[in-house]
Amino acid sequence: MKDSHGRVIDYLRISLTDRCNFRCVYCMPEEGVCAMSHKEILRLEEIERLVKVAADLGIRSVRLTGGEPLVRKGVVDLVDAITKIDGIENVSMTTNGVLLPRMIDDLKAAGLSRVNISLDTLDADQFRAITRVGNLEDTLAGIDAALEAGLNPVKVNAVTVRSLNQDFLAFAKMSIDRPLHMRFIEYMPVGDTSEDGGTGWGKQDVIPSEELFDIINEQARQAGLPELRPAGTSKPLGWGPARYFEFPDAQGTVGFISPLSRHFCAECNRLRVTADGKVRPCLFSDTEYDVRSALREGSDGAVRNVLLEALGAKPDEHHDKVGTERNMSQIGG
Ligand code: GTP
Ligand code: 5AD
Ligand code: SF4
Repeated sequence: MKDSHGRVIDYLRISLTDRCNFRCVYCMPEEGVCAMSHKEILRLEEIERLVKVAADLGIRSVRLTGGEPLVRKGVVDLVDAITKIDGIENVSMTTNGVLLPRMIDDLKAAGLSRVNISLDTLDADQFRAITRVGNLEDTLAGIDAALEAGLNPVKVNAVTVRSLNQDFLAFAKMSIDRPLHMRFIEYMPVGDTSEDGGTGWGKQDVIPSEELFDIINEQARQAGLPELRPAGTSKPLGWGPARYFEFPDAQGTVGFISPLSRHFCAECNRLRVTADGKVRPCLFSDTEYDVRSALREGSDGAVRNVLLEALGAKPDEHHDKVGTERNMSQIGG
């Protein structure tokens, strides 16, 4: 499936719910989002049917996101169903990790290929401040559980924000002794159309990846560690926009995702579906295509047409527009 800019689109990100067991300050308001009603969100059978139609069109990888995908009832059965769909080669999930110790064995048995776990700080107090309600140990236990279960690759996502003063070297070092892929993501001021997305963070808080790369190498040098070098064969499996480096002899890698400093739109390979069944051609496009109505009232052909319509509307790039009318928790990152 190619879009009008010649890009092959074979990756579908599906948000399973806008609810979450955290309340990250950059992702949703303290009181939580005004949760979508049961009627509004796609039923699991509807998602399965959507993936079947998408697979016929050429989708090969599916990523389940949220909110927090693991709080959605029936998520294990859904993984089981979509991994069995002809054409689907990889089913992954982006999660805060809290429920992984409890669920990882079932998810693995259901065919989940891999997980990306969000972790923005290694300081317990800061973790509570960012997530408003979360405990650092819970997410760390989720990472351990994913590694112990043998999921491969296991990736960790840290959104970098200048005013948070995160310990970047401590994060990067997590990739040395275990096969962990630590990724640093440039903070995108999304969430509402105001400059700071409601967090008090603004453009000055974006740390361009190149600057961060230099910071980490300088900190590594001061700690007597070698510099990061481009990752060779150890580059983890994935279809996202991260660029990977590694410390020599490390088991894992250190990746950089640079939505602002380096447009990766030319390599964009994805469509997104929100929990309430709207297809978004781009993370930042507020024009959405209603696939829920097609799933409820139409034939597979109608579902297919909505996907193709959204595909046709994929912009060439986001042109520095980073605000959206929806919160990240509703789009799925
Ligand atoms: P894999 O490489 O396949 O593991 O997936 P991924 O890195 O795309 O997935 P993940 O959910 O871990 O997303 C990591 C970060 O990339 C998040 O901050 C996303 O918001 C960001 N991201 C993912 N897709 C896009 C995109 O299409 N555009 C932009 N600007 N950012 C994206
Ligand atoms: N900027 C960058 N990354 C973000 N994420 C959520 N909101 C933002 C933002 N404003 C990340 C989450 C998760 C992934 C899906 O998106 O931390 O790892
Ligand atoms: Fe794709 Fe839009 Fe993201 Fe660019 S901003 S990479 S076009 S989803």
